[in-house]
Amino acid sequence: MTSATTSFSTQRNEIAGHSVAEIAQRFGTPCYVYDWASIARRIADLSAFDAIRYAQKALSNIAILDRMRRSGVVVDAVSAGEIERALRAGFVANSHPSGIVYTADVFDRESLELVVKHHIPVNCGSPDMIDQLGAVAPGSNIALRINPGFGHGHSQKTNTGGAQSKHGIWHTAIDECLIRADRNNLCVTGMHMHIGSGTDFEHLAQVCVAMEQACLEVGRTVKTISAGGGLPIPYKAEQTYVDLEQYYQLWHATRNRLQDKFGHAIELEIEPGRYLVAESGYLIAEIRAIKAMGENTFYLLDAGFNDLARPILYGAYHPISVAHRDGSTTQLEREVVVGGPLCESGDIFTQEEGGFVSRRQLPAASVGDYLILEVAGAYGFAMSSNYNSKYRVPEVLIEDGQLKEIRRRETADDLLRLETIPE
Ligand SMILES: Cc1ncc(COP(=O)(O)O)c(C=O)c1O
Repeated sequence: MTSATTSFSTQRNEIAGHSVAEIAQRFGTPCYVYDWASIARRIADLSAFDAIRYAQKALSNIAILDRMRRSGVVVDAVSAGEIERALRAGFVANSHPSGIVYTADVFDRESLELVVKHHIPVNCGSPDMIDQLGAVAPGSNIALRINPGFGHGHSQKTNTGGAQSKHGIWHTAIDECLIRADRNNLCVTGMHMHIGSGTDFEHLAQVCVAMEQACLEVGRTVKTISAGGGLPIPYKAEQTYVDLEQYYQLWHATRNRLQDKFGHAIELEIEPGRYLVAESGYLIAEIRAIKAMGENTFYLLDAGFNDLARPILYGAYHPISVAHRDGSTTQLEREVVVGGPLCESGDIFTQEEGGFVSRRQLPAASVGDYLILEVAGAYGFAMSSNYNSKYRVPEVLIEDGQLKEIRRRETADDLLRLETIPE
């Protein structure tokens, strides 16, 4: 298990042994590149948990899911589309632990239908889900996602607990949920809390206490607890990795106390998204224009917030590096603002929360050089869109020393496939 710091360089000519310029020329820009070896290391870090349930919303390409499955990881799905992805990648619901669990605060009609069809266990985030499932699949086992009444998160938009969060079943509603479950002949066998305590162990200890209390309220039917996701990774050199040993020990002790009280084994799952895939991912873009605007110099890229939305959504910081087209390096640096091609003032990668534009010290570069947005594997491609009718970019996996295209660049036909002009 790791607990260390990391460092980021602003010049990078290679990704996992492959020249950035060669990748860019072969697959075009922008493109996402993922280094499987990085994901494999992160999976190994979490091997103490009984199950690693990957929150595929972070990066849901079916090639990544397939490799996760082959590495012994199971998945979480939050929509019909994610269930289909998991099935397509070979996960099955009737394995132990279940290959797929549906976790959400609502059932839309298509996900309810798929859950029932494929016997997928459900982690209910709202009491109404219990009745909706019970009506079509009585006799099922369910888990409850509990909101303990307090939260944590790197921005208000990612806070997953407390009264301002829409997530989970309010901690005082457990009794009501048990009555609903009984009425529908459902059995509560799992308890889940996704609070994202990060590196704050005092906070995590409170989450563990809340989990224990919630499990005791449900009683001996509980067989599995899930610590949720939220494990942080460093996006800046001064940030550190979470001490995974300490993290695990807090949850393990909680599980042990429950085992003692219930007299049977309790399985401990973790549900990370970001931790597994963030560092594996790089978004390679080309610098298409450089311009001075008053006191600012802008590097304008062919990638925008349609490709990587985290900066505009949360003011999220991504390490940025430059690769010169000819593979050269330079000592010269510039303070620049980095932006994209979209018709939106907010299409800026170097911004703070609230949309305030900031500058970054980066190597001097020319139009035609490459700029790499790093630590972009989680919530990168997965949040990308066709805004401004941009084609979604290719995804490339580096595995066993080879570059493998796992999603091709979209074309105009892909973009327009679903639209019709009525007579
Ligand atoms: C229920 C649940 N589990 C796990 C995750 C993964 O979180 P992270 O990527 O921070 O590990 C999320 C993220 O939104 C979530 O909602």
